[in-house]
Amino acid sequence: MDAAHMGADLEKVLITEEEIHARLDELATEIWAEYEGKDLLLVGVLKGAVMVMADLSRALPGTAPVDWMAVSSYGSGTKSSGVVRILKDLDTDITGKHVLIVEDIVDSGLTLSWIKANLESRSPASVEICTLLRKPEAAKVEIDVKWVGFDIANEFVVGYGLDYAENYRNLREVGTLAPHVYA
Ligand code: IMP
Repeated sequence: MDAAHMGADLEKVLITEEEIHARLDELATEIWAEYEGKDLLLVGVLKGAVMVMADLSRALPGTAPVDWMAVSSYGSGTKSSGVVRILKDLDTDITGKHVLIVEDIVDSGLTLSWIKANLESRSPASVEICTLLRKPEAAKVEIDVKWVGFDIANEFVVGYGLDYAENYRNLREVGTLAPHVYA
């Protein structure tokens, strides 16, 4: 679906599909310059990172394996709990590999810093992070994110993989919801 199908549920579009794709193409070029010839593994965090992974990985000018983790974080609300539980672990042994975590959004940073520490404990060659979106004002922990698509204001967003109560992940754009949706 795109913004036109959202009707009254949409407050505004923050980032268009074209802007997302253009930025992911730029990031893919930078990422490849860093990892070409290295044993790279792309790690996506389900479910939000599905769209970013699909487009970023295809924008890379060479092959890279992909694996997935699922952790519990938000439930159906809009506030980070900081409580992380692995629902699905990697299928891959990452010993000696260069791991790039591909994320949809860094909000408080709590989830990601937990995941990064967890992966670092498995003896990889390196662990870096690429995220489509980051909310600098929401940061609760310092976390080194090497590649950021867009810094955005501290407001709840949906679309391009991001949900509110499991809806709107399939919106092509990134946008905010009208207040009545939360009522
Ligand atoms: P953090 O731990 O606060 O950085 O956020 C963890 C997870 O919460 C993210 O990976 C998203 O799945 C979800 N999340 C954070 N902010 C938003 C948002 O604005 N919209 C939808 N999901 C969000």
